Amino acid sequence: MTDPVPPQHRPEPPAPKAWGGVFSEATDGRVEAFSESISYDRRLADDDIDGSIAHARMLAATGIVSAAEAAAIERGLEEIRAEIHAGTFAYSIAKEDIHLHVESALTARLGDVGRKLHTARSRNDQVATDLRLHCRRAIDRLDGALAGVQRAFLALADAHRDLVIPGYTHLRRAQPLLAAHQLLAWCERLDRDRQRLADCRRRTNVLPLGSGALAGTSLPIDRDHVAATLGFEGVTANSLDGASDRDFVCELAFVVALAMVHLSQWAEEWILWSGEEYGFLRLPQAFCTGSSIMPQKINPDVLELVRGKSARAIGNLQTLLVLLKGLPTAYNRDLQEDKEAIFDSIDTLEAALGIAAPLVAATRFDAGRIAATLDRGHLDATSLMEAIIASGVPQRTAHETVGRLVRRALDKGVALADLADGEFSAEWAGWNAELRGALGASRAVERMRSFGSTAPARVADQMERWRRRLEAAPGGR
Ligand code: ARG
Repeated sequence: MTDPVPPQHRPEPPAPKAWGGVFSEATDGRVEAFSESISYDRRLADDDIDGSIAHARMLAATGIVSAAEAAAIERGLEEIRAEIHAGTFAYSIAKEDIHLHVESALTARLGDVGRKLHTARSRNDQVATDLRLHCRRAIDRLDGALAGVQRAFLALADAHRDLVIPGYTHLRRAQPLLAAHQLLAWCERLDRDRQRLADCRRRTNVLPLGSGALAGTSLPIDRDHVAATLGFEGVTANSLDGASDRDFVCELAFVVALAMVHLSQWAEEWILWSGEEYGFLRLPQAFCTGSSIMPQKINPDVLELVRGKSARAIGNLQTLLVLLKGLPTAYNRDLQEDKEAIFDSIDTLEAALGIAAPLVAATRFDAGRIAATLDRGHLDATSLMEAIIASGVPQRTAHETVGRLVRRALDKGVALADLADGEFSAEWAGWNAELRGALGASRAVERMRSFGSTAPARVADQMERWRRRLEAAPGGR
């Protein structure tokens, strides 16, 4: 027989509420189902327990509870943590959220001693603290994962140190580049993501606990004590703001969204480059999937999903900004909606970085295929123009001259280097054969020597800099 009543609407024996004193009616089951957050904020369990242990220690240090009581609370909380990790902890929507679950489990163990834990604390400053701890841990993991992808790009650059590829603007052939130069561009972008994470971490790493519900507390707490236990760099300065500030959540969501946009751009480029039309890259088959109808297909689904999942990260940032925009000062229950958005952003970026690193590490360029078409697109036109400028010709004149030379080459269907000396001098009387040194993709690359350019010596400098920087980064050797 099927059960017509969905589980969340099944009448449960009314559970006593932590806030039930003033109520003379039991909570409607539909309200419990609608307002619960335990189905997702259980992910804050470790942070909640860490925060509660720090709070209990402070309560003992200030004499608000006894040392023996705090020790019993700490032991009880560690037992609860072990149960949660073991998967034997019982959850119920009647207990709303992770904070009430942990506290009621503690009270079930310790009786009145458990009932002292929430002294000088509100769930408003508690959840703000938990979320900061959670975001801080996520930031550190994401930083390590970003560094891992940077390392993979650096290793791939190293494997193709001398390879020259066509560079594109507007998706049209523009100037030649070292493949390593193109790969290190991703290192730069991901590095700015890491810098933004570090910056966001500074503002995240401030303790709101002690803000109470909104006005602080009359009890003689020591907020610095809690901050020191939890590794926060300071305490929030205004209790109203401290209990309701979610700027750090938005900031992290933005950093994640932009990092996902970077990965999406990378994915798009590699989808193109690994396809039949470009054929520049060979993706590892272990990171591709097939088609259920077309037997020949080897599809870049992982890259497509990285690109696709960037949409969620962008959407989550939007969700958070809209969530906050209408809130009056102090805690409002709307804030409960912040968690799924930021959890999803963190999960999405972590998953994308986790798959990007091994995919990059196992990918190789198809040097033969790239070389076979490198003389197409007059990639050396700018190099020739600059050589002419270097002999004293105004830029606009040189540009015009090389434009006419390219027109000749186009009409004949050849590369610039295939034009005869007579054809060059027909367009420009100053032509001499030494200027041929600017022609050809490899020579053009070698001449790009300004700081940050693609000349091999410059790229070698970049690689050395990244090697040193990434040695110092998390997960480095
Ligand atoms: N589950 C709530 C949240 O995530 C915890 C704080 C609830 N505070 C309250 N006074 N109802 O925001």
